[in-house]
Amino acid sequence: MKIAGTCVLITGASSGIGAATARALAARGASVVLVARSVERLTAVVTGIERTGAQAKAYAADLADAREVSRVARLIRDEHGVPDIVVNNAGAGRWLPIVDTSADELTAMVAVPFLAAFNVTRELLPGMRQRGTGHIVNVTSIGAFLVWPNAAGYIATRWAMRGFNEALRSELYGSRIGVSLVGFAQVSSSFWEHNPGSWERLPAAAHRLRTLTPDDAAVAIVEAIEKERRLVLRPRTIYLLRLLSTLFPRGTERSMWS
Ligand SMILES: NC(=O)c1ccc[n+]([C@@H]2O[C@H](COP(=O)([O-])OP(=O)(O)OC[C@H]3O[C@@H](n4cnc5c(N)ncnc54)[C@H](OP(=O)(O)O)[C@@H]3O)[C@@H](O)[C@H]2O)c1
Repeated sequence: MKIAGTCVLITGASSGIGAATARALAARGASVVLVARSVERLTAVVTGIERTGAQAKAYAADLADAREVSRVARLIRDEHGVPDIVVNNAGAGRWLPIVDTSADELTAMVAVPFLAAFNVTRELLPGMRQRGTGHIVNVTSIGAFLVWPNAAGYIATRWAMRGFNEALRSELYGSRIGVSLVGFAQVSSSFWEHNPGSWERLPAAAHRLRTLTPDDAAVAIVEAIEKERRLVLRPRTIYLLRLLSTLFPRGTERSMWS
């Protein structure tokens, strides 16, 4: 889908991958609408984008709350119309062993990214269908394809993003609304600071993969939209690892403990 001239909603755009994606899409001529909780950080991203001459607007909302999703979606529809492109990127979740994951923490991990992506999409999809065009990107992790120990809540919610993505594409079969799943291994964003204890639980094997910058991740999201890709995984080694884990599940499992 051509990005110039579109209106793009990016969730989780106050930092990391979302902020870099907002900047990259704005640089390609999109008018960007940013959503996250932190007003201060959103304002800083918007100011940076506006300095380049591009259009950006931010809305503060806690996407873990379905009523907040409805409220902010209504505001966005009223002030910008239904976005042409939606990037479901907002996400959090500490990597913890199952027995150390409290019920409240698990609920929060399910709420964002998974419920947030589902609820945001449900709010905006009718307008996209009415218009007949659109593109939805769902951001996930390598953990949706290849699992490692001591991050069960995180991994399960990233599988949920993958499941939601595939179900959404199936519902939209035959329409002109594209759906892309974009998955990353480690990205040097503030995710690790926001989710303490996670970096320490990276399996040794993961350190052999290239760490992406948030700008690298944004390039992958832009590619998914422009080339209307079903799936984009970065670094590309993940495609091979995904195949190896299907062919040799026991060996892959063992390698995640080394
Ligand atoms: N970093 C990695 O290595 C990596 C790898 C693979 C996949 N991912 C995925 O990529 C996504 C973005 O991560 P990131 O690396 O950019 O991390 P990040 O820097 O921590 O960014 C997370 C974004 O989500 C927003 N957010 C969190 N909870 C929210 C809520 N309840 N309501 C609204 N917004 C919320 C945060 O903003 P506020 O705090 O202002 O609300 C922030 O803008 C996540 O789903 C993550 O799992 C990351």
